[in-house]
Amino acid sequence: MSARVAVVGSSNLDLVVTASRLPRPGETVLGENFRTVPGGKGANQAVAAARAGAACDFVGAVGDDEFGTQMRASLAGAGVDVRGLRTVAGPSGIALIAVDRDAENFIVVAPGANGTLTELDADNRATIAAADVLLLQLEVPLAAVVRAADWARAEGTTVVLNAAPAAILPTELLDLVDVLVVNEHEAAVVAGVFSDDPSVLLDALLELVPRVVLTRGARGAAYADRRGLRLAVPAPRIDAVDTTAAGDAFTGALAVGWAERGGATTEDTVMASLRWACAAGAACAQRPGASTALPERSAIDALYDATYRGTP
Ligand code: RIB
Repeated sequence: MSARVAVVGSSNLDLVVTASRLPRPGETVLGENFRTVPGGKGANQAVAAARAGAACDFVGAVGDDEFGTQMRASLAGAGVDVRGLRTVAGPSGIALIAVDRDAENFIVVAPGANGTLTELDADNRATIAAADVLLLQLEVPLAAVVRAADWARAEGTTVVLNAAPAAILPTELLDLVDVLVVNEHEAAVVAGVFSDDPSVLLDALLELVPRVVLTRGARGAAYADRRGLRLAVPAPRIDAVDTTAAGDAFTGALAVGWAERGGATTEDTVMASLRWACAAGAACAQRPGASTALPERSAIDALYDATYRGTP
């Protein structure tokens, strides 16, 4: 079954510098290469879902500048339906990104046009209603995130929230989430519990939402739900060059795998969705940049087969 995914979220133009190491506060380091890459967690997850095989609609906002034109073209070029992408007066969102030789990064976002997405309209509601999965992040105003989730719940669309960047979330939103996707830092902030033990974080988050996916980078992912299912998935072994957008690749592919398996209701289907998402995240980390690194379905399948084939 082909999946339909709707994304309500951000688009940024990423201004990316590579350097041998990341600067400490107050320090200047000489970098190496500079380039601009379409990014933003929302747009990345939309492109990730489209490349993974879904029909994907994007609802967001860009500015009336050259960056906005570039980001619209990038999304459309990836096959994402951009009829819900508004152009507003003012600058587009941008992200300053530095990447070091260990593939680690830091990112600072200036939201620009993303900050204008405070209201959604009837067309946006129809888009959400037509989707199997609604994908949300936290780079646009919370009012739009809550409204989108509320409509999705009313229309029977599964709500997947990637709580990035990390934030303390209101009950109003948590009550509408079907699947929460977080890394360990985001998990600690959302749960208000700081622990190195994934099971402690998962237990705390299950008090708030019914299903949790914990992404753990090179250590893979963990899953828990209120029915008592707990799974751990190792990540493919790869040489990472840039982890920017690896979480977006993971989340986009998870949404597609989840929808294609009819909501991933059994242990086998949840496991397969998680493994496929881990393969997507790892494939992304093998290439530089955000949207430029998001893998096609064939690349996800290849890494999935190479890593998990024959594993129970
Ligand atoms: O998740 C990676 C993304 O975070 C980058 O593309 C950047 O724009 C920020 O939103």
